Amino acid sequence: MSPVQELEDIEKEALRALQGAGSSDRVRELEIAYLGRKGPLARVGKTLGTLPMEERRTVGQAANRVRGLIESAIAAKLANLDRMERAGRLEAERLDITLPGRTPPSGKLHPLTEVLEEVVDIFVGLGFQVAEGPLVETDYYSFQALNIPQDHAARSMQDTFYVNTGNPQPFVLRPHTSPMQVRLMETTKPPLYVVVPGVVARRDEVDANHLAQFMQIEGLAVDEGITFGDLKGVLDVFAKQMFGANLTVRMHPSYFPFTEPSAEVYVSCFACDGSGCPTCRGEGWIEIMGAGMVHPNVFRAVGYPPETTGFAFGMGIERIAKLKYSVNDLRSFYENDLRFLDAR
Ligand code: PHE
Repeated sequence: MSPVQELEDIEKEALRALQGAGSSDRVRELEIAYLGRKGPLARVGKTLGTLPMEERRTVGQAANRVRGLIESAIAAKLANLDRMERAGRLEAERLDITLPGRTPPSGKLHPLTEVLEEVVDIFVGLGFQVAEGPLVETDYYSFQALNIPQDHAARSMQDTFYVNTGNPQPFVLRPHTSPMQVRLMETTKPPLYVVVPGVVARRDEVDANHLAQFMQIEGLAVDEGITFGDLKGVLDVFAKQMFGANLTVRMHPSYFPFTEPSAEVYVSCFACDGSGCPTCRGEGWIEIMGAGMVHPNVFRAVGYPPETTGFAFGMGIERIAKLKYSVNDLRSFYENDLRFLDAR
């Protein structure tokens, strides 16, 4: 074999071996093996002196070329391995330092708002419209037009916040939503089916069962031939949708100046099914609102014929919410403690 051919074989073999090398250590070994003093190139180099002048040049040049090729193949291989090894190390040493994102707490409706909307929805489903009215009312709408005479107990300083404006006719923070019965009838001819949710205020000592400011929802239906049976039917549907289909609605004679006859409306306790428990204070029945047939004097006050027929009812939203969510203290609804508000 001629020395040049021998060199070409060395080149091929060296390049093939480099290609198969899997680590930089292996490449270093091959470098020593092929380019080192005991390697094949060195061996060929040693024979140069024995060659005739002409051939010595050719073989010398070929040897340099092959050495150069192998050297650059080694450099390229090392660079390549280095890149791969670095990538592997980075992957292996990868550390996940991602922190859980901060999720801002999402808001939701206040329990009273939820209950109010639920109540309104039930009456809207029965064909009632929704109206709202002023929190600061006149004495006339709050009392007189509702058949509450000047010296009636409900007007006493105990119950009502009077707003002193210097006006001869005192303003009050409405102690109930019933003034809206009058305002609606003054401006609308029957038939009238309306509910009026809204804030009311009373001079009550604040405790677990009383608030000085709370919400009511008023109901008013005026139409031809409205009877007490209609009232009971509507409240029956309401109570069953609100608290449970199995309960019983009971009406108990009562007194309101603006309704005749008047009633307190009870539902059989949905917590114990009427057998008596803490929710119903052992009574088996829970009072949920006042109601009755609109008094002829109220119809007179708004210019309706006194024989007009209609019913009205009014309930406290906090009371309904308290029952619905088994809340012990009405004040919890207004303390804005997120632990309470989130507890549903
Ligand atoms: N306004 C009465 C109250 O606040 C409730 C009521 C409304 C009763 C309508 C009868 C008819 O207690």
